[in-house]
Amino acid sequence: MSNTGAMDLAFGVGGKIEKVQVLSAVDKYEKYHVLHGGEEEDRKANYTDMVNKYYDLVTSFYEFGWGESFHFAHRWKGESLRESIKRHEHFLALQLGLKPGQKVLDVGCGIGGPLREISRFSSTSITGLNINAYQITRGKELNRIAGVDKTCDFVKADFMKMPFPDNSFDAVYAIEATCHAPDVYGCYKEIYRVLKPGQYFAAYEWCMTDAFDPSNPEHQKIKAEIELGDGLPDIRLTTKCLEALKQAGFEVIWEKDIAVDSVLPWYLPLDTSHFSQSSFRLTAVGRFFTRNMVKAMEYVGIAPKGSLRVQEFLEKAAEGLLAGGKKEIFTPMYFFLARKPASEN
Ligand SMILES: C[S@@+](CC[C@H](N)C(=O)[O-])C[C@H]1O[C@@H](n2cnc3c(N)ncnc32)[C@H](O)[C@@H]1O
Repeated sequence: MSNTGAMDLAFGVGGKIEKVQVLSAVDKYEKYHVLHGGEEEDRKANYTDMVNKYYDLVTSFYEFGWGESFHFAHRWKGESLRESIKRHEHFLALQLGLKPGQKVLDVGCGIGGPLREISRFSSTSITGLNINAYQITRGKELNRIAGVDKTCDFVKADFMKMPFPDNSFDAVYAIEATCHAPDVYGCYKEIYRVLKPGQYFAAYEWCMTDAFDPSNPEHQKIKAEIELGDGLPDIRLTTKCLEALKQAGFEVIWEKDIAVDSVLPWYLPLDTSHFSQSSFRLTAVGRFFTRNMVKAMEYVGIAPKGSLRVQEFLEKAAEGLLAGGKKEIFTPMYFFLARKPASEN
């Protein structure tokens, strides 16, 4: 798990937001969402504000509870969460066929956990693209500590309009990030533009599955909890992502919800009935401890006002994700490998 401690968590809450503004940022963030009266159109129109507020508020919680890579993983028996996360990243690198010296783009890179691992695994140079300035500051520091700061860098920009010329990268990947896009076709089209012809794009997408029934109020509640807890405008169906990929011009090599093949479910760490020593902070006892610690730190003024509210909506997210996973109406690992044709017709 992460090496960050309670003080890092407290000081990090709010990211680049002024500490006195954290509580009002939580208010504004929550109001974007259905469970607080918000509307999809508003979330889409204001996606940059919503996403930046979300990641400023939650990044130190993610790092404290989950580690440097902010994603789930397909998991085998006997594997720790950390091992499964790394293997999930290696799988992506192998699918892309990365070769030493290649120039790769990580779309929506978080604080760069996957970027550092994949770059060391494949001897490639990776650029992390991220809209959130606080995460980039953390990522640069962690790249320096890991010694990959000469080969990997970060660019602060929106993946809907990237500041790169056409045909810039040998490979592109996105891990649980393009679900934040207000329009998935627009996002894939932009990825297509910056990828060199004949090269590959691979991703793990957050999606609703075919089992999702939009007329079922319980399914809608679960979807809304995940959107609130994870800063999302609208979780799309797997079929919608596949269609958008093809529409953007990609040739789809293969695609599958790989959660289906996972021996241990990806949501196991969120299940409070499960105990794990290596992921103690995610267990029921660990979460109880974190909640009370955050409450105490907010009370004495070490953590900004609003910190406990962040912990609460993250717990809501965990409930939604767990229910969505158990009912198989949601997946965080709809995988696809796609290729930009060598010559465009
Ligand atoms: C769940 S995190 C995943 C981070 C990273 N891929 C990982 O697995 O650790 C989603 C990331 O997407 C980034 N993001 C969301 N919307 C974005 C946008 N419009 N442009 C660029 N990055 C964006 C967020 O700032 C965040 O870093």
